[in-house]
Amino acid sequence: MQIKLLDTTLREGEQTPGVSFTVNEKIKIVKALDDFGVDFIELGHPAVSPDIRDAVGQIAAMETRSEKLIHSRATRSDIEDAISFGVPWIGIFFGTSDLSLEHKFGIDKQSALLRIADAITYAKSLGVNIRFTAEDASRTDMAFLVDVAQIAERSGADRFSVADTVGALIPEKTTNLISKMKNEISIPIHFHGHNDLGLATANAIAAANAGAEVVDVSINGIGERCGIASLAEVSVILKTQYNVANDWNLSLLIQLSRMMEEKSGISNRLNQPIVGPHAFTHKSGLHTRAVLKDPKSYEVIPPDIVNQERKIIIDKYTGKEAVADRLSQLNIPSTEPMVESITDQIKSNPKSDPITDLELINFI
Ligand code: COA
Ligand code: ZN
Repeated sequence: MQIKLLDTTLREGEQTPGVSFTVNEKIKIVKALDDFGVDFIELGHPAVSPDIRDAVGQIAAMETRSEKLIHSRATRSDIEDAISFGVPWIGIFFGTSDLSLEHKFGIDKQSALLRIADAITYAKSLGVNIRFTAEDASRTDMAFLVDVAQIAERSGADRFSVADTVGALIPEKTTNLISKMKNEISIPIHFHGHNDLGLATANAIAAANAGAEVVDVSINGIGERCGIASLAEVSVILKTQYNVANDWNLSLLIQLSRMMEEKSGISNRLNQPIVGPHAFTHKSGLHTRAVLKDPKSYEVIPPDIVNQERKIIIDKYTGKEAVADRLSQLNIPSTEPMVESITDQIKSNPKSDPITDLELINFI
């Protein structure tokens, strides 16, 4: 399977409540994403604000391996604006669900098709690659979505993006939707999925399996409301469970994630998959005993491939093996009765924080 990742931390990610990156922060984020090896980076929507315009301009001039894309409404002024930065791709979006047509645009389906065709034809005449996104595609009438995709392709769009804008999809529906679109058009398909029902990653993987060539992600999954699929989850799943051949440096994920926590002010959950502090931390006796023999017993992937460390914590759930292992790491010779006595004392003094090394020594 050959799948590409488009990172939209700078555009979607900055739409997170409470988040605004400085231009310098954006430049650092782009360098880190480029080092990781994402295939596309969405730089932003210049029409939104002067600082975004400034950032888009500065990043457009940077040398990157990742291909750059600028976001644009389906209007001639946004398109001219986006193209003026000289990047290879522009992403034109237009809401296609009945809700969008009625409330955002106040137009009927036929007029929407004409506007989409006009915008794409115009942008194409200016000589740029176009990704056209049907915003709210997942709640768009299927027959109309096919019309939209086909008119986008006929008008010159190079790629068609299916947006699950409110995170309404479940994986089976994603599979059907992407498979259907693949049968109707021949340009590559992208998938942009929100996490409102906690299914963004599952839907991104389903889309990839059904034939989407590019899936959108952001660092730590930040974005409007509950965000979108996370770079760490999608890249690790695709690499380790599907063996995709892409040249992504998974060992940089933890660094990217920490950087985003700092710059966005939004902390990961402790139990966040892959990048959370608990992702490779083992606690109960039964688990730790098995992990000490073979880590695979309770780990889906080895922590070192994402530059994380395996931890074994000690508390009332602990078993003798974990206590003996900790003592040995502390270079303290132990005997069976000593380990048993320490374990008994730990279990008889339950507390929520793990036992520290000092507390462990005090139990000897
Ligand atoms: N294509 C064409 N026109 C669009 C559009 C689209 N995709 N989306 C909105 N518009 C039009 C609206 O119909 C409205 O037109 P009108 O003025 O004729 O009624 C106009 O844009 C809204 O413009 P304005 O009132 O100036 O909007 P704003 O100042 O509230 O917001 C932006 C302008 C640029 C900030 C806004 O487009 C934005 O928030 N962009 C980022 C959002 C985004 O990217 N969403 C994800 C999409 S995948
Ligand atoms: Zn979005």
